[in-house]
Amino acid sequence: MASRYHQVYAGWKRDSDAFWAEAAGDIDWFTPFDKVFDADAGVYGRWFPGATCNTCYNAVDRHVASGRADQLALIHDSAIAGTVRTFTYAELKREVVALASVMKNQGIGKGDRVIIYMPMIAEATFAMLACARLGAIHSVVFGGFAARELATRIEDAQPKAVISASCGLEPNRTIAYKPLLDEAIELARHKPERCIVVQREQLACDMTEGRDIDYADAVAREKAAGANVDCVPVASTDPLYVLYTSGTTGQPKGVIRDNGGHMVRLKWSMYNEFGIEPGEVFWAASDVGWVVGHSYIVYAPLLHGCTTVMFEGKPVGTPDAGTFWRVIEQHGVVALFTAPTAFRAIKGQDPKGEFVPKYDLSKFRTLFLAGERADPETIKWAEQRLGVPVIDHWWQTETGAPITHNPVGLGLLPLKYGSPGVPMPGYDIRILNDAGHEVPNGTLGNVVLKLPLPPACLPTLWNADKRFHQAYLDEFPGYYKTADAGILDDDGYLFVMARTDDIINVAGHRLSTGAMEEVLAEHPDVAECAVIGIADAMKGQTPLGLVVLNAGVTRDLAAIEKEAIALVRDRIGPVAAFKTVVTIKRLPKTRSGKVLRGTMQKIADKEEWKMPATIDDPAILDEITEALKARGIGV
Ligand code: COA
Ligand code: AMP
Repeated sequence: MASRYHQVYAGWKRDSDAFWAEAAGDIDWFTPFDKVFDADAGVYGRWFPGATCNTCYNAVDRHVASGRADQLALIHDSAIAGTVRTFTYAELKREVVALASVMKNQGIGKGDRVIIYMPMIAEATFAMLACARLGAIHSVVFGGFAARELATRIEDAQPKAVISASCGLEPNRTIAYKPLLDEAIELARHKPERCIVVQREQLACDMTEGRDIDYADAVAREKAAGANVDCVPVASTDPLYVLYTSGTTGQPKGVIRDNGGHMVRLKWSMYNEFGIEPGEVFWAASDVGWVVGHSYIVYAPLLHGCTTVMFEGKPVGTPDAGTFWRVIEQHGVVALFTAPTAFRAIKGQDPKGEFVPKYDLSKFRTLFLAGERADPETIKWAEQRLGVPVIDHWWQTETGAPITHNPVGLGLLPLKYGSPGVPMPGYDIRILNDAGHEVPNGTLGNVVLKLPLPPACLPTLWNADKRFHQAYLDEFPGYYKTADAGILDDDGYLFVMARTDDIINVAGHRLSTGAMEEVLAEHPDVAECAVIGIADAMKGQTPLGLVVLNAGVTRDLAAIEKEAIALVRDRIGPVAAFKTVVTIKRLPKTRSGKVLRGTMQKIADKEEWKMPATIDDPAILDEITEALKARGIGV
């Protein structure tokens, strides 16, 4: 059957308001919007102004009211604890209402911020939805970040409360979350009034008198009292959440997501892009700390009336490379969404795919990959072993939903290896050269999105309109800068090649090398440093730190390097996967003092490189080549 994509995309281009008005018909609004889009509001315009709505109502209550009360809403599967917990929509509502009641009793209401610092447990989803129910703004912080990163977010978001848990489970260790939370609160100038803490049986934590509340006790009391909390009407344009993401400095950017546009865009994506019907089981194997977890573990599948799977585990080692297939069989998953790195990990452990035929994957229809570049080898491996289409799609924390995709519901377009597909309605993608001029198809350039951005995209950054302008809008007037470099081909397919800034992508996690450099520079023996992302067969990229020591330092180099590694782990967290530091004599720079990170990366990755014409002293690159070679890098 021919794809409807071109017709639908052309329909959007012809009349964007009509397109989004129709999509908005799938959302239950408390009061209707005055306009689909107000170009004069906000930084570049606002979606569905005038409307009131509630995201929790659309994700939970309306399904309970319309016949899905007994359908599973959430399956929590912990491959590490060896447990499965399930919740119907009616049970999900009970959990969310009870927690919302606990929060309301603590004075948390519309517009208040609540930080959620939790491992992958069902209560993290309840917490997000309870915030949405109250009109409170959640900010989920990924558990792999260290106390200082959490403290930065606490300071910026100024939360009234934090919802957390005693511990997280990694395959090789139990991570005590509570000491990290206590340390972060200690470090932050802003002090949240309350912490609501889930005590997990694997590792209990101490509670701080007068501040901490035991989640289970408090929720049980509300349930026993038959507490009810209605969904609070919020403006379509009110923030649902703030999600911090890496920028070019150590200060993360607080991406704001509004309520109305977000719901419209996510609901539309579930059938049209992912080909999922309400009632089906959808699984995004990510973490609620990332945007993929927000959009495709929690909000989109629930808005669509699906059953969503929340997985605590890894693609390998919990217990083996067959765990994904076990989950698919056991829960009847029809589509899986994960990062390519997960498949590279599986392929590494089970190259012939011998675990696959051990499971019944008859319900499984599609594999979706995003979060980093999907290398064609990995896509082909997955296609061959699983016998289903493998669909790469591209987006960012900032957009909340795919920018390019191959839309399954509209009808698949031919697959092109190496391309994450074609622009979705709402996106007019252009490729510009550095001077801001459009380049012909087939030419590499800056990938930009013509303003206005569609529903679900960030309207601005939390408390930082100026930074929003500087980071995204100023360089190419009239366009949003994605900071990705890419190519459009004659058929309208995009090929995303690299970031144009200092962001690197480690196992699908977005990290700032600038932030790591700031930490390395704190080491008393380090005079200068640079962090670059180098190729890694499983994680895509890993960070490599290059340090120049202060004159006169005579300490053992290996000890200094070890301390530098520990510093980054301590300040940013294990998620940075920062494991290598090489001491060099000098950093290569241009005559104007710019560090030549790109050239060093090429040397480390054994790519062809040209001597930059502006280099200060060419001999430095030979020194670096030697220093890296001595450590087995770039050989
Ligand atoms: N809390 C605390 N620590 C965490 C954590 C969490 N929630 N998540 C990860 N970490 C730690 C890990 O234990 C690891 O620590 P270590 O250096 O002591 O081993 C470190 O952070 C890096 O974790 P991770 O990136 O998960 O690497 P890994 O080597 O443990 O596993 C993969 C590699 C490929 C299996 C894993 O990254 C993966 O499954 N990725 C694909 C899915 C995904 O989550 N994508 C994200 C966006 S879609
Ligand atoms: P994040 O905000 O964490 O989702 O990271 C967004 C960045 O990840 C993008 O700007 C890209 O650099 C990269 N990325 C995400 N998806 C893809 C993809 N399918 N192909 C290539 N790069 C991707």
